[in-house]
Amino acid sequence: MTEKRPLRSAQWFGTTDKNGFMYRSWMKNQGIPDHEFQGKPIIGICNTWSELTPCNAHFRKIAEHVKKGVLEAGGFPVEFPVFSNGESNLRPTAMLTRNLASMDVEESIRGNPIDAVVLLTGCDKTTPALLMGAASCDVPAIVVTGGPMLNGKHNGRDIGAGTIVWQMHEAYKGGLISLDEFLSAEAGMSRSAGTCNTMGTASTMACMAEALGTSLPHNAAIPAVDSRRYVLAHLSGMRIVDMVQEDLRLSKVLTKQAFENAIRVNAAIGGSTNAVIHLKAIAGRMGVELDLDDWTRIGRGMPTIVDLQPSGRFLMEEFYYAGGLPAVIRRLGENQLLPNPDALTVNGKSLWDNCAQAPIYGEDEVIRALDNPLREDGGICVLRGNLAPSGAVLKPSAATPELMKHRGRAVVFEDFDDYKARIADPELDVDETCVLVMKNCGPKGYPGMAEVGNMGLPPKVLAKGITDMVRISDARMSGTAYGTVVLHVAPEAAAGGPLAVVRNGDFIELDCFAGRLHLDISDAELQERLASWQAPQGLLWDGGYRRLFVDHVLQADEGCDFDFLVGCRGAEVPRHSH
Ligand code: FES
Ligand code: MG
Repeated sequence: MTEKRPLRSAQWFGTTDKNGFMYRSWMKNQGIPDHEFQGKPIIGICNTWSELTPCNAHFRKIAEHVKKGVLEAGGFPVEFPVFSNGESNLRPTAMLTRNLASMDVEESIRGNPIDAVVLLTGCDKTTPALLMGAASCDVPAIVVTGGPMLNGKHNGRDIGAGTIVWQMHEAYKGGLISLDEFLSAEAGMSRSAGTCNTMGTASTMACMAEALGTSLPHNAAIPAVDSRRYVLAHLSGMRIVDMVQEDLRLSKVLTKQAFENAIRVNAAIGGSTNAVIHLKAIAGRMGVELDLDDWTRIGRGMPTIVDLQPSGRFLMEEFYYAGGLPAVIRRLGENQLLPNPDALTVNGKSLWDNCAQAPIYGEDEVIRALDNPLREDGGICVLRGNLAPSGAVLKPSAATPELMKHRGRAVVFEDFDDYKARIADPELDVDETCVLVMKNCGPKGYPGMAEVGNMGLPPKVLAKGITDMVRISDARMSGTAYGTVVLHVAPEAAAGGPLAVVRNGDFIELDCFAGRLHLDISDAELQERLASWQAPQGLLWDGGYRRLFVDHVLQADEGCDFDFLVGCRGAEVPRHSH
């Protein structure tokens, strides 16, 4: 029999001195018997439950099923809360607090008697925040996602979370539907527990967690209310106990190869642009080099084969019934399109071992064949040029093909307030050939890089029946949104990037095929404008977390992590507290 590995938690509970007494005694006020402290792996269940994060509001129940699995496998589960990043309620944006949550996770794990951790994730930012924090500790960790909501239902058809809001609001502004009709879809959109059921950021990041190998197969797509979600939670609880003995830490899973797989999968699923930022931040915590060019090298030109909104037709419920992510990975692998089939996953098998026999149901509908894709040019389009020296991104599968190479006159908004104040003005000098430009919505500028990049079109353009224009900003865009939208322009305007000096009437050239974003003025003129640029007022927050954020946040191409959080600091047991 192999010797059992010494447990990290034994440095709390495994001694008979004053400290052991103290650590055990206080825990015993919860009714924990002596034998639970006799060398059982302590499994933290990191819970982002909150009634203010509706997408994660059912997580106490998921935690109960994880606990059953942990107990069955001989571990001892301890559930703990961390800051819950709710996308729908948090203002100015949940992105402002992603790094805060990651710090909470990291310090909670390192400071406590935890041998391994189950990460309960759901809403957009909760997945990267928990993976970032756990990666910086490099403990064994497994992701359990809360699962997507059932299909929305309204007026006899299926509607997708988020996507329907953008669609119906544009239709309402264009005078195509009434206010009553617009508001009547609210309850139908969100009719069960779970996360957004489109291939928005939550579903994308759940798929990324699975493609990275940090969850059991099928974790991404099982609907929140499907009993199989609870079975998966139970099995994950069992598995994490074994991972302690196997010392299967995150660094063995989150390799460069795993990130390459994830980038390819993101293209195949038509995933959110937010994945570019979050994967970079997670990789950074693990010490894995990943940059924008990896997205071009590995993801560009890869067809999108999953026909889900916002790029396509269906929703996550259908995606699961069609075979879910293992089916997509199988399809990639069978066509030699999975870069690293041997990448290790948390169940101890390779990604390919897990997916090679995955059933694919409903041929060519939800999960399409590679020769009949939803879009030929999936992946993330990385753009560079004098307007974005450190890069910008666009999601081709959500864009209008005819606009992906376009030259147009800039209509400039200084910030989101300026945009809102003027976009509906009938006097605004704009038509559908123009390029809408918005500044000061980046990491420092907003602050927090809100999802305002998919600026709604001017009503007078919408009234012509036009539904897309080229839009450029340093903001992000919701994964549920769509359009020919250039995002994440870096450096951002508030940091003095060239975006800051674009003027009304300038011409801008977008060429997604050449990866080019160009402001059509001379170099000399650009340098002159940059030299006389002054930072906008109101950016200098006088204190609190926002001050920390603005002072330390990195630009979009660096994953918007804090400069001092990048890297893996391990989980060495700290000194005693008394
Ligand atoms: Fe939480 Fe979409 S708002 S998942
Ligand atoms: Mg979202």
